[in-house]
Amino acid sequence: MKIVVVINNKGGVGKTTSAVNIAAWCARFGHKTLLADFDPSAGASRHLGFGPGAGRVKTLCDYLVDASRDLSAAIHPAGDEQLFCLPAEPSLADFYLEVAEDAAEAFFISREQIPQEFDLVICDCPPNMGPLAMNALAIADYALIPVQAQYLAVAGLEVTDDMLSKARRHLNPRLRTLGYFVTHFDRRTRSAAEVYDTLKQRYGDLLLPTVIGMNIKLAEAARAGEPILRYAPSARGALEYGELTRALLARMQD
Ligand SMILES: Nc1ncnc2c1ncn2[C@@H]1O[C@H](COP(=O)(O)OP(=O)(O)OP(=O)(O)O)[C@@H](O)[C@H]1O
Ligand SMILES: [Mg+2]
Repeated sequence: MKIVVVINNKGGVGKTTSAVNIAAWCARFGHKTLLADFDPSAGASRHLGFGPGAGRVKTLCDYLVDASRDLSAAIHPAGDEQLFCLPAEPSLADFYLEVAEDAAEAFFISREQIPQEFDLVICDCPPNMGPLAMNALAIADYALIPVQAQYLAVAGLEVTDDMLSKARRHLNPRLRTLGYFVTHFDRRTRSAAEVYDTLKQRYGDLLLPTVIGMNIKLAEAARAGEPILRYAPSARGALEYGELTRALLARMQD
């Protein structure tokens, strides 16, 4: 089992869109995949159809208050034979802190509690370095960093990089960087290409060659509660996430 954390301290860069669509492609390529939603805003859960109106299902909150700590009760099929979701809900942030006050454990979600039958676990994180993001980093094999194609997003990356090196030092020495990739790439602008070049200089081969362009279908798919490969399989966004996922899977073989 490989655990990948999609992380960036900056909000709105495409973490949730990427976590969901990469998870969906991993499943489509035949890997048993769990999308684990570590963000109380629960965007990834909604993106996979676990939103309001879908009926109450057990979430990470139920797991936190369940004395038997059975994570599998909060894992649900997500529309593809190999795709599953561990949903979040808004009260997760408060629950986590409340449980933390009484508990001796540092983190509540451990590798051992995730059913071992999963080949891949893709974790979506909130845009902050709070306890949920720390928990995800503490159990992960890889960090994957989406970067919005904007100058300010690149400047802000230092915060994320610093946090990743602290996580490596203090929480999880085996945490590796799977890569950086550019999202919201507007092919018509020079500044998007400049962002790519700056990242290439800074990160070298860690920057993935596949970029995710601006594609309105990605936002529509999120609203429809479906991964793009189901909502609009021939959309450019679907094909780019497919190509990106192939590259990520190849890197994890190395
Ligand atoms: N490539 C893209 N083209 C067009 N819209 C996109 C693209 N990627 C993401 N979006 C849209 O941009 C918004 C932000 O994306 P997303 O929610 O994935 O970011 P995030 O990093 O998870 O945000 P947060 O930090 O708030 O969790 C969403 O409305 C999403 O639908
Ligand atoms: Mg998000």
